Amino acid sequence: MANTILVRVTSVSPIAQDIRLVTLSAVDGAQLPTYQPGSHIDLHMGPGLIRQYSLCGPHDDPASYSVAVKREPESRGGSKWVHEDLDVGTELEISLPRNNFPMAEHARHSILVAGGIGITPLISMARVLNAQGQSFELLYFCRSSEHVAFRDELESGALSTSCRMFLGLNREAVAEALRDALSVRSGDTHLYLCGPRPFMDTVQEVAAQSGWPVDAVHLEYFGTSEQAIAMVGSRSFQVTLAQSGVTVDVGADETIIDALRARGIEVETSCEQGVCGTCVTTVLEGVPDHRDCFLTSAEKAQGDCMAICISRSKSPGITLDI
Ligand code: FES
Repeated sequence: MANTILVRVTSVSPIAQDIRLVTLSAVDGAQLPTYQPGSHIDLHMGPGLIRQYSLCGPHDDPASYSVAVKREPESRGGSKWVHEDLDVGTELEISLPRNNFPMAEHARHSILVAGGIGITPLISMARVLNAQGQSFELLYFCRSSEHVAFRDELESGALSTSCRMFLGLNREAVAEALRDALSVRSGDTHLYLCGPRPFMDTVQEVAAQSGWPVDAVHLEYFGTSEQAIAMVGSRSFQVTLAQSGVTVDVGADETIIDALRARGIEVETSCEQGVCGTCVTTVLEGVPDHRDCFLTSAEKAQGDCMAICISRSKSPGITLDI
């Protein structure tokens, strides 16, 4: 399989309530590609079951990757599989690391804001900033102390002096704590946030009210129903398939893939949530409305390809190289 690595699970350990830390090494013993903090990999768990997790292990270990997976009560298979079926010795394919959540270069100060399992990309960033002696603070909002991941490192280890924990706060109290933390922004301070969508919405609202420029706010979502998000504000449009000349109407409440299937046209997909990249297709004409989290910001800005399982069209029509 191209662009994947066959790995074996070398350890599995609970690191908080409902969170398992999984460590993976290449089956052939080779070193794994290096990655930047904020990067993620896809875990190929079975046919049509691909999930994306941030790399959160020691940055300088070329022999292994680690991901922390929270058991989601409404799991459609991914976290359930990791918590119930995966064990030491399990072999699976993973993607190469990708980074859709890069850190700004030359920031004078960084504020990392994690909600729950959103700690995973941010702890990688915190470790690197700490190792480089850079100025940063980590704010970690969590349901209770039992839900705190990487607890020793954050409470009494290397990151303890830069980490503040906020446990069991309701939405208003979270907003209040954030208003306090984000009220003063000195130049070249960057804000990084990761967590569930309602939490992220609150952080973004507070940052906007506190005058943070959008290009200083960097984010990654977790635990959301990407499909539901993808349909928000959707309009109908037409898709033309260049190779056959067929044009298909895509309704406001369906995806491109749904519309093609309804016409008997099959396209290869896997996750159908905009995370794995299997369905990425060349765009020949029209303006994509990117709603995936696979393509990087630069690839999205280029506009010459799109993840057709979830992304839509800003123009009334879009032509794909199919
Ligand atoms: S099928 Fe995975 S991104 Fe579209």
